[in-house]
Amino acid sequence: MSAENPDDDNEDYEILPDDHQVYDLNFKLIVIGDSGVGKSCLTKKATRNIFENYYSPTIGFEFYTFVIKIKEKIVRLQIWDTCGQEVYRSLINGFYRNTSLAILVYSIDKVQSFKHLEFWLNDIKTNSGPEIKIFLIGNKKDLDEKREIPIEEAKNFYKEHGLYMFMEASAKTGFNAQKIFIEAAHVLLEENKKMKEKLEKMKNNKDNINENQKVKLTQEGESFNDSNEQDTQKRNKCC
Ligand code: GTP
Ligand code: MG
Repeated sequence: MSAENPDDDNEDYEILPDDHQVYDLNFKLIVIGDSGVGKSCLTKKATRNIFENYYSPTIGFEFYTFVIKIKEKIVRLQIWDTCGQEVYRSLINGFYRNTSLAILVYSIDKVQSFKHLEFWLNDIKTNSGPEIKIFLIGNKKDLDEKREIPIEEAKNFYKEHGLYMFMEASAKTGFNAQKIFIEAAHVLLEENKKMKEKLEKMKNNKDNINENQKVKLTQEGESFNDSNEQDTQKRNKCC
């Protein structure tokens, strides 16, 4: 699936308040990339409609939520906005644990942040499971006159590395800021559905598979749904 130009007309969703407590599925997302590319600003713009001009580096990570209803399913995204500065990153282990999707950000006016994407991809590869989806985001689109990365170059990078989605965005103007998380929720909901169907099919055909295949499939399902099932239980308890 490619969504360089996600379709705005197909509004099959409703965004709910970020403190909405009842949900069907919960996914962990991580926002990564060089310091100063606008990870915190993009996340704040999408979740709270706030933009600040001054720079206040994230220390460790900050936590946000984005809740969206898609076709009767309420999806909660647990967003970890991480620090880009190496000095703080070395203090934090396990950023990537149980992460379903990584939002990898560079700034269109800083060639260094684009060159550094290989480092971040390697970080993801080393620390997370193979099922993680990666969105590539070129932030600060409003600074077009200072652009150092042509959009074609970024598109080529996204294709060559088999990333899931590419968009340019601007936390300052709000362009595509919320769209990133809306698309992420759609992708994860769809993946969850496919995984459930796959498991169901295997259960129905269980006489035709050997024990090793059963164990492997169950593990795949568990690793994808790890936090989701726990949250469903929590929801059932409290409601
Ligand atoms: P770390 O927390 O250090 O990793 O940085 P970060 O990636 O979270 O960057 P942050 O969101 O703090 O933004 C850094 C600076 O860029 C701030 O001064 C923001 O105001 C500015 N900024 C962020 N997004 C945009 C944007 O879309 N356009 C413009 N013009 N400035 C932006
Ligand atoms: Mg930050």
